[in-house]
Amino acid sequence: MRVLLAGATGVIGRELLPLLRKAGHHVTALARDASQVVDADAVIAADLLDTPGLTAAVGAARPEVVMHQVTALRPVSGDTRWEVFERTAHVRRVGTANLVDAARAAGARRIVAQSIAFATAPVGDAVLDESAPLYVNAPDATWAQTVQAVAALEDTVLGATDMAPIVLRYGSLYGQYTLYDTTGAIGQAVHLGRLPLVGDGAGLTSFVTVRDAALAAVLAVDHSATGVFNIVDDKPTAAHEWLPGYADLLGAPEPKRIPVELGERLLGWYGAYQQTRQRGAANAKAGLELGWRPTVPSWEDGVCQAFSEVAR
Ligand SMILES: NC(=O)c1ccc[n+]([C@@H]2O[C@H](COP(=O)([O-])OP(=O)(O)OC[C@H]3O[C@@H](n4cnc5c(N)ncnc54)[C@H](OP(=O)(O)O)[C@@H]3O)[C@@H](O)[C@H]2O)c1
Repeated sequence: MRVLLAGATGVIGRELLPLLRKAGHHVTALARDASQVVDADAVIAADLLDTPGLTAAVGAARPEVVMHQVTALRPVSGDTRWEVFERTAHVRRVGTANLVDAARAAGARRIVAQSIAFATAPVGDAVLDESAPLYVNAPDATWAQTVQAVAALEDTVLGATDMAPIVLRYGSLYGQYTLYDTTGAIGQAVHLGRLPLVGDGAGLTSFVTVRDAALAAVLAVDHSATGVFNIVDDKPTAAHEWLPGYADLLGAPEPKRIPVELGERLLGWYGAYQQTRQRGAANAKAGLELGWRPTVPSWEDGVCQAFSEVAR
C-alpha cells in the first residue's frame, strides 16, 4: 500500500515509519524539513498550514492511505505552555482540514488520524469508552480550547466518509522522547522531586507506549474499521500509584502531598485535574473491532521493564 505519513519526525512518526515499511508498505514521509526524515521510501517537504504547497506535495505522492500524526506539542525555545497548546490547536483545526482536502484531491481511500484519549469530560464512570462526551466546556480556557480543537479534528476526519476514516485516540504516551521519559519534562520533574502529588491523587491516567500506539496505526492501514478507537493500555492508573512508584524507581524523593488549590497554582489547572479528577479510557472497542491489544498491559509493567533493561 502507498502510505503518506504526516508527522514522520514526531514521537510516534519515528517509531511508525520503520514499522510501516516492515509491514510491506511504500512510505512517503511528509515533513517540514525533509533532512530530518530517516529511511523513508520517499520524502516530501510540506507544511500542513500551507494549503497549495500541501495539496501539490500530497498529490505528487499519490497515497492510498494518509496517516495524520501531526501535533505542534514540541516546544520551540521561549514558548509558553499557552503558545504550545494554541499552536497545536491551530494545526489540529486548520492543518487537519487541509490534509483531508489534499488526501481527497490525491485520490486517497483511507485516512488514519491521531487524537487523544484523555479529552473526555469527568462525568460518570471512572473509566470511559468512546461514547463519552468530550470536555469542550472545561473551566480552564487552555484545556477547553485544546479539547474543542481535538473535537474539530475528529469531526473533520470522521466527516471524510469517502475515505474510510479512523481516529486513534492515544493515551498518555510514555517511552523514548516522551514527556514521561527519564529525560522528558515529567520524568525530570519527578526525578528532581518537583512534581507533587495533588489532593487525593485519585485521577486516572490511561497510558500507552509509543510502540503500541504505532502498532495500532500499522493495523489501521489495512483494516476496514472506521470511527473512533481508544488506544490505551489495560490498566488506567491513579496518580497516587504511578507518581510515587515512578519516583521510587528513579531513586527520587517521595512526591510531597499538596492541596488541590496549591496544585493548580504550581502545576496549572490541567496538571491538578489530571491527578485528581481525570477519568481513564477503556480499550475494549479497539480489541473487539480492530483486533488491537497492548503488548505492554500497564504503566507499571512498562516502566519496570524499561528500568530492568537499563540495568542489564
Ligand atoms: N497522546 C500524547 O500523550 C502525546 C501525543 C503527541 C505528543 N506528545 C508529547 O509531546 C511531546 C513533543 O513531541 P514531538 O513534537 O517530538 O512529536 P509529536 O508532537 O509527536 O510530532 C509532531 C510532528 O508533527 C510535525 N508537525 C508539526 N507541525 C507541523 C506542520 N505545521 N506541518 C507539518 N508537520 C508538522 C512535526 O514535524 P517537524 O519536524 O516539522 O516539527 C513532527 O513530525 C513529546 O514529549 C510527547 O510525549 C504526547
